[in-house]
Amino acid sequence: SDPTSEKLVELAKRRGYFFQSSGAYGGVGGFYTFGPQGAALKGNVEDAWRDRFAVAEGNMEIDAPTIMPEPVFEASGHLDGFDDMLVECPECGESHRADHVVEDNTEYEDAESLPIPEVEEVIAEYELVCPNCGAGLADQDVETFNLMFATNIGPGDSDPGYMRPETAQGIFVEFPRLKEYARNQLPFGVTQIGRAYRNEISPRRSIIRTREFTQAELEYFIDPEEDEPDLEAVADVEVTLYPASEQNADDGSEIRTTIGEAIEEGIITSPWVAYFLGVAKPWYEAVGVDMDRFRFRQHLSGERAHYAADCWDAESEVDGNWIEMAGFAYRSDYDLSKHAEHSGDRFTVFRQYDEPKTVERATVDPDMSYLGPEFGGDAQAVVDELEALAARDREAFEGDTVEIDLEGESHEIPVEQTGFAVEEQTEAGEHITPHVIEPSFGVDRLVYTVLHHAYREDEVSGEDRTFLELEPEVAPTFVGVFPLQTDDELEAEAQTIAAELREAGLSVTYDDSGNIGRRYRRQDEVGTPFCVTVDYESIEQEDGGVTVRERDSTDQKRLPIDDLAETLSAIRAG
Ligand code: GAP
Repeated sequence: SDPTSEKLVELAKRRGYFFQSSGAYGGVGGFYTFGPQGAALKGNVEDAWRDRFAVAEGNMEIDAPTIMPEPVFEASGHLDGFDDMLVECPECGESHRADHVVEDNTEYEDAESLPIPEVEEVIAEYELVCPNCGAGLADQDVETFNLMFATNIGPGDSDPGYMRPETAQGIFVEFPRLKEYARNQLPFGVTQIGRAYRNEISPRRSIIRTREFTQAELEYFIDPEEDEPDLEAVADVEVTLYPASEQNADDGSEIRTTIGEAIEEGIITSPWVAYFLGVAKPWYEAVGVDMDRFRFRQHLSGERAHYAADCWDAESEVDGNWIEMAGFAYRSDYDLSKHAEHSGDRFTVFRQYDEPKTVERATVDPDMSYLGPEFGGDAQAVVDELEALAARDREAFEGDTVEIDLEGESHEIPVEQTGFAVEEQTEAGEHITPHVIEPSFGVDRLVYTVLHHAYREDEVSGEDRTFLELEPEVAPTFVGVFPLQTDDELEAEAQTIAAELREAGLSVTYDDSGNIGRRYRRQDEVGTPFCVTVDYESIEQEDGGVTVRERDSTDQKRLPIDDLAETLSAIRAG
């Protein structure tokens, strides 16, 4: 365990950032409550994300349910493929992620991508033990464990549903509607900020790996042959990249470059992924991630999710560990094709040709009812088969008879009776399945990083102090207002000033308990950028002004009361 994280978790509890939920009942692993400061910080981060990835990019935001029916996850692949490796301790019964046990105790860094028998072999070879009680795990089977929380929709168990493991599926399943709102014009993007649920085998490290968390996701739909991102807008953005090739090399290292150069040199191959990395980097910086502890790391081929053709993660360093804050995946047409296949609905967009095209089409007689009796009355099945065959293999109709398969049985039909013909048709366009680029942000991990990177300890007037150097734009409390001491008049004036600042849209805390030094320390720990103190000069003279103290430098300045709201609002706006 590491000192800053430990101290941060303590501070988070003490000052209302986050704490384990249901504490009155002993707490439950993997569930956290954001307290008043945490909820406000998280809200500010989400607003900043919305401003950048929805509003500024011209994307649409939706809000879909968190429970979805089983067919959605059959189609998406989560029912079959959204698994982790589990090993159960024979002594204490505790379950562990087998790949974590391996990674924590051997030189294997990417055990998640190993097949199960190999993980079992490594556990046996290294004689790995239960992290909880120390019992040997060598003889235990490693099993797959699906991470989705299951439930039933309505009474009974005939209608299974699942808590969504990613907000993304709520966007994909609504594509047939959403494309209409986009007037069938690619490219367009749809965002969603909301809860996702994963029954993690071993939740860890406070809010970094939980069972219920918030994602901010953008699904950006493109025509892969036509659409290109505005790379000029991000070409000069400086980034630290850790490509797969470097991770695989013995002496591999991170590369400092620009988005433009990374594309030119083929380090990032998808221009769309590059574009969103370029948008994300300055945004992370603006919300307070330390850029010396930030990088984009490419997934190794065994590490990629079942849907991803290429993926880069945004990672932040906390106490010597890199944590994944976001994934930028090229999901190709995987999701839309699967939902089309499973639902029968249309997940395509019509792409108009520049000029109408003349194409040859092979057709068959659409009415073959006369064939009905011979095929159990199902003439339509015959028509469908013949149509499909004509489209893919015209040569099959060159002889006297054509052969089709119906429910496993082969039938020969005289070609004459099929009405087979090749006609010229003029087509204005074609239906295509869009490809998807997905920037997927974990809000909780970002909030954790922002707090961790803001954590400071120093000494003020010979006393130790802890403070959070949060960016003014995201700080949950922007200003503390204090009367210098217990006094009706000072308190009334301080309350009036607090009300005025609130009216100006600032988040204000009013505090009149304890000596001034203690009140400053309290706000330092919350990360409040400014404190305003009302003293006798403030009330005895005509606008006698107030003392404004700045958090990081602890410098104090006298400001006229009339200027206060405007000055502070300007700083808040950035
Ligand atoms: N739609 C893509 C997707 O869900 P992911 O990499 O599985 O991709 C995206 O998740 C982000 O969600 C991660 O980068 C991480 O920040 C966050 N996340 C995933 N599992 C989490 C967990 N158990 N606790 C907290 N955050 C999590």
